[in-house]
Amino acid sequence: ASKPMIAPSILSADFARLADEVAAVEGSDWIHVDVMDAHFVPNLTLGLPVVKSLLKVTDIPLDCHLMIENPDKWAIGYAEAGAYNVTVHVEAAADPIALAKNLHAAGAKAGLSIKPGTPLEPHLETLKHYDTLLVMSVEPGFGGQSFMAEVLDKVRAARNLVDTGHLKLLVEIDGGINADTIEQAAEAGVDCFVAGSAVYGADDPGKAVQALREQADA
Ligand code: DX5
Ligand code: ZN
Repeated sequence: ASKPMIAPSILSADFARLADEVAAVEGSDWIHVDVMDAHFVPNLTLGLPVVKSLLKVTDIPLDCHLMIENPDKWAIGYAEAGAYNVTVHVEAAADPIALAKNLHAAGAKAGLSIKPGTPLEPHLETLKHYDTLLVMSVEPGFGGQSFMAEVLDKVRAARNLVDTGHLKLLVEIDGGINADTIEQAAEAGVDCFVAGSAVYGADDPGKAVQALREQADA
C-alpha cells in the first residue's frame, strides 16, 4: 500500500460548527462526508447543500460517501459541485459502470462501496471503472460501531488485485477504525482510513489524525 491516508468522517463532528470542525483536522488527506437518506440506511444526515457550503470553507478534498437509493440520479450533483471523490454503493446503483463514467465526465473521482455482507468477486469488472473501493467494516448507517475484522479478507483480495495490476484503485476502509483496529487494517493493505468517532471523539481531533496516520505507517 501507499503512504497511509486519513479521512476524518464529519458524521461524528458538531453539525452546528462544521467549518470549525473541518479546520480542526487540517492535516487530513480527505474529509469524509456521509450522506444518508433514511431509505438505503435507517438514518438521515446531510446532502448537497451542506456539501456545497463545505466546499467554500476548505481546500481539503471532499470524499462523499453516498448511502442513498438511486445514486444513478443523485451522485452526479456532488461531482458537479466539486466533490473530489464520489462514492456510491454497489447495492444501490442500477448501472454502476455508467455512473462511474458520468462522475468522471463531471470531473470527480468515482468510488464504489460494498457493505460487510457484499462479496467482492461479482463486481471486479465494475471496479475497473472506479478509482476507489470503500470496504465497509460496519453496517452503514451510524458512527461509533465496532469494527468487523472479517471484512479484511476482502481488503486483502483487493490489495492483491491492485498489486498484481488487475485493478488500479485506492482501497479505503470505513467503520470502527481507531487506535485498536487501524494496525490490522493497515496490515491487510488499506490505503485510506476513514475515522469518525476516533477523530471527533478525541480532545484534539488534529492530533488524533496524526496519531492514526503514524500507527498506520508503522
Ligand atoms: C457509517 C459511516 C462512517 C462513520 C464511521 O455508516 O459510513 O463513515 O462515520 O464512524 P466510526 O469511525 O465512528 O465508525
Ligand atoms: Zn462513510
